[in-house]
Amino acid sequence: SADLVAQAKRAAAFAAVNKHVTPDVRVLGVGTGSTVVFVVERLAELRAQGQLHPELVCVPTSFQSSQLIVAAGLRPAELNDLPADGDGLHAPIDVTIDGADEVDAELNVIKGGGAAHLREKVVAAASRALVIVGDSTKDARVLGDKWAGGVPVEVAPLAWRTAKAQIERIALPGAFELAAPAATLRQAVRKAGPVVTDNGNFVLDVCFGRIHDPPAVERRVMMVPGVVEVGIFSGMACEAWFGNEDGTIACRI
Ligand code: A5P
Repeated sequence: SADLVAQAKRAAAFAAVNKHVTPDVRVLGVGTGSTVVFVVERLAELRAQGQLHPELVCVPTSFQSSQLIVAAGLRPAELNDLPADGDGLHAPIDVTIDGADEVDAELNVIKGGGAAHLREKVVAAASRALVIVGDSTKDARVLGDKWAGGVPVEVAPLAWRTAKAQIERIALPGAFELAAPAATLRQAVRKAGPVVTDNGNFVLDVCFGRIHDPPAVERRVMMVPGVVEVGIFSGMACEAWFGNEDGTIACRI
């Protein structure tokens, strides 16, 4: 039931926060979606108990994420306002905890079901660690095994038709299942017209069938003019927590 799925998400979120958000964490990336609501719920508890770093700042990945952070009494910070670290690499975020639409056996991830994957990927790439949280329906062997929503691709509005046509002509022998990818422009709910992202762009949902070579598909879609970001995150996550409906949790590393 929906209630058990929410409990599963909550258990995974709590476990990830308990392990990773120790009092020495000073900069935390906060993801987007329904599972991250529970991440922030646990952060608020730890804050009330005085168990967070006194100067902790949270980097949001969307409008929703920013609202959650502020509502929990936590301090938001923009990526551009964070200092570079000592070794000259701009990796100022200690850890980011985020949801996913699907995770494969190698921790490659599909994200962007909530249309937030541009900021999510930028924040993930600026983090020392990316930890994924979700219920066990996201736990797959190969991308496309379970998630039927396709790969979200954020595109500049002026290029959505040309980008769609070029994506549908992508051929990468062995990299994905379908003979040709199929893209649809994501439509808004309770508004006539397309979804507009936090960045003012559109989203194409691209079905490839099973994806056998996520990095190859990610790179190839990124090359299409007008594509702003693709919702395949290959090789970025280091750990994933999945909650089961029976109340147990599983961690994959
Ligand atoms: C947002 O664009 C997505 O990447 C979300 O992280 C993803 O859809 C997970 O959301 P749920 O936790 O609501 O499934």
